[in-house]
Amino acid sequence: MSLLPILRYPDARLNKVAKPVTVFDARLRQLVADMADTMYDAPGVGLAAPQVDVHEQLLIIDTSETHDNLRVFINPEILWASDEKEVYDEGCLSVPGIYDNVERPARVKVAALDLDGKRFELEADGLLAVCIQHEIDHLRGKIFVEYLSPLKRNRIKAKMLKEERELERELQGNSGYPRRKR
Ligand code: NI
Repeated sequence: MSLLPILRYPDARLNKVAKPVTVFDARLRQLVADMADTMYDAPGVGLAAPQVDVHEQLLIIDTSETHDNLRVFINPEILWASDEKEVYDEGCLSVPGIYDNVERPARVKVAALDLDGKRFELEADGLLAVCIQHEIDHLRGKIFVEYLSPLKRNRIKAKMLKEERELERELQGNSGYPRRKR
């Protein structure tokens, strides 16, 4: 089991646009396995590769209670989105402790490749539809707080930066731990 460090908002690396995956090999399988370990450990229901500083179009989702329904989406694209919208209280492993309402299409149809490079299509609603859209946003360098008002977003940014400073102070006070690079 291998846990990957998750980038925290407002780290600028979260705004990089991810490149398509072109090679379907053992490295990709290992990355997905490590991302799954990281997501389940957090715990979260979705994780996109840019959140672990890998800027490739890859995301994983598991909305099951039992953590046994891992879905892998490579080079995903939304083919269709419903006019009907739904508001969901979203959170993100890169913005820990923050939840807020985001309105998105209630249903989407997505096409993606699996770990073997085979194309599939999926129609989703409910939490799965929210997750797919939230994680695809990560591949475009967009974080859910960018849907909120500038006032809210600035408050969240300030809170995250304050926590970051406190964390760095703790790490510095604890010899043997290298200071985290930003
Ligand atoms: Ni997220």
